This record gives sequence, C-alpha cells and structure tokens, in this order.
Amino acid sequence: MYGLYTILAALFSFLILKWMKRRRYCLDTKRLDGKTVLITGGNSGIGKETAVGLALRGARVIIASRDEDKSRKAVREIKARSHSMNVLYMELDLANMKSVREFCKSFLQKEKRLDILINNAAMPSVLDWTDDNFSMCFGVNHLGHFLLTNLLLPRLKESSPSRVITLTCSNYKYQKLNFQDLNYNLFPFFTYCRSKLANIYFTQELARMMEGKKVTAYAVHPGYVQSNWTCHYSFLFQMLMKVIMFMFYVSCEAGAQTVIHCAVADEVVAHSGGYFSDCRPANLQAFAKDAGVAKKLWEASERLVKLA
Ligand SMILES: NC(=O)c1ccc[n+]([C@@H]2O[C@H](COP(=O)([O-])OP(=O)(O)OC[C@H]3O[C@@H](n4cnc5c(N)ncnc54)[C@H](OP(=O)(O)O)[C@@H]3O)[C@@H](O)[C@H]2O)c1
Repeated sequence: MYGLYTILAALFSFLILKWMKRRRYCLDTKRLDGKTVLITGGNSGIGKETAVGLALRGARVIIASRDEDKSRKAVREIKARSHSMNVLYMELDLANMKSVREFCKSFLQKEKRLDILINNAAMPSVLDWTDDNFSMCFGVNHLGHFLLTNLLLPRLKESSPSRVITLTCSNYKYQKLNFQDLNYNLFPFFTYCRSKLANIYFTQELARMMEGKKVTAYAVHPGYVQSNWTCHYSFLFQMLMKVIMFMFYVSCEAGAQTVIHCAVADEVVAHSGGYFSDCRPANLQAFAKDAGVAKKLWEASERLVKLA
C-alpha cells in the first residue's frame, strides 16, 4: 500500500512540476529573409537559442560577445542547427564603453541594415566593477546596452520598421532605483534587480522617443531558464542550482520563445514600450511604469556614458 502511495505522490509531484514549467511557444513562422539581427551575448543560454530560432527564419544573425573562442564555437553550432551560413560573430565587451563605441563604429561601417537589436547579455548578481568604474550589473546590463542602442539608432531608423528587444527579469519588482546611488553595489541580488528595472524604464523611454519613427521597443522576461548564468559562482552553488534548475527552470529553447515572439509577431507593434512574458504582454508594478523616472534615468545614463 505504501508503495502505491509513494508512486502516486511521485506522479503528482512530477505533474505539478511539469505544470509549473509550462511555457508558450512562438507559433509565428514569419520569415526574416533579408533582415539583420544583432544579439548581445548570443554565444550562450537564451541568446544562443534566440540566434538559432531567428537564423532558422532566414535572418542574418550577428552575435556580439567578448569571448572569441566560445563565440566561434557558438557560431558553428548555430549554423549547424539552423542550416544557415548567414551567422557571424563580432567582438563586444559591454563592461567597457570604449569597446562598445569601437563595436558600433565597426558595425556601422560593415552592416547596411539593423532590423532587430536584441539586448540580451547580462551579468547575474555579482559585486564587481566595470573598466569604467560602474557597478558590474548596472554597467553591463543597463549602461552598456544604453550606449550600444543609442549609437546604433541611426541604422535602426534607416532600416525601419525595426525593433529593440531588451531582456529583463520579473525580479525587477524587488527594488527601486536610487538616483543618488545608481551604481549601488552592496547586495548582489539587489544590484541585479535594479539593473533589470533599469532595462524596463529604458524600453519605455526608448519607445516614447521613437513614437512615429517605426522603431519599437519591448522588454522581455524569459521565465526562469536553465542557462549558464551560474558559471560566475562557486562550484558548490553551481551544483545546488543544477538540481533546482532541473526541477523548476525551463530549457533555453523555451526561454527564447518570448524574445522570438517579440522579434517576429505583428501584433506586438501595438504594445511598443511594453513588458512581455510567456509570448504575451504582462502587467508591471505601478512604480515600474513611472514615465518621469524613465526620463530621469535616460538623462542620467546619457551623462554617465558621455553621450553628447
Ligand atoms: N536564466 C534566467 O533564469 C533568466 C531569468 C530572467 C532574465 N534573464 C535574462 O536573460 C538574459 C540572458 O541570460 P542567460 O540566462 O541566457 O545567461 P547566460 O547564459 O549567462 O548568458 C549571458 C550572456 O551575456 C554575456 N555577457 C556577460 N557579460 C558580458 C559583457 N561584459 N560583454 C558582452 N557579453 C557579456 C555572456 O558572455 P560570456 O560568455 O562572455 O560571459 C553570455 O553570452 C539576461 O539578460 C538575463 O538577465 C535570465
């Protein structure tokens, strides 16, 4: 009898976990032939799966990342899985504003189109500083992408209708921005939450500024995903997270679906500036929709990255 109860309990737990991990898939099969997509951090996790999904739809996919060997290996994998030869790598270190500027210069010289920019790269909760003395999370996750997007805006406008998709996280809700200390670097998890909140404000202000210019912007929460973000932590933590991720987190392929949806679906255009999760618009906490804060962050970011 106990054996039967154990089997039923195991089956019940399995079904609950399966239900918790359910995710919608992007069913839009629109082709992207002739379009150019740029994905930061496309050599790993959600970014790599997004690259495969968009290369499969015919796009020219450029992955921008900092580790050359890892990126070349990723390009080979993306090409093999998408049966597309139109995939390449360009070097970019978002923790260094000089690298961002050099990348944009080289991109604008070489590439005549930019239809979809995907600001995917991120550092997880770590306490560190970038080469320009910004806190690592705020510097890479927000400021690096802020400068990148601004410098590539001319190409996005020329290629319009175009889209900017920025990966955020539902953990944004646990923190608010402190304009006296944007480089807050005290509790690792909170630095990450603040950078992901900044991604949401950035998307809203970008959408507002691009109104009528056919450049639209979306913030995406991909779900909790079994990617490679734990590589920045101790071996013990990685092992612990492996178990937790196996039980509760979805695959990278599932995590890429809302990003792909925002890249291809026609209906998202009506929601520029919006926050998406599970392939549909999702609600934000009221404080994260404050247009005044979004504008203030934009202006502060312009000063910090010395954008003339
Ligand atoms: N995984 C989740 O559960 C989850 C949940 C919510 C939101 N997200 C968001 O999803 C996005 C993708 O994350 P992921 O889970 O796929 O993590 P991941 O596997 O760790 O990928 C992160 C990517 O960012 C790149 N990167 C980090 N620092 C960089 C820098 N300074 N310059 C250029 N590239 C840099 C990494 O490159 P290197 O290999 O060189 O480090 C890597 O390619 C992130 O924005 C993250 O915040 C993830």
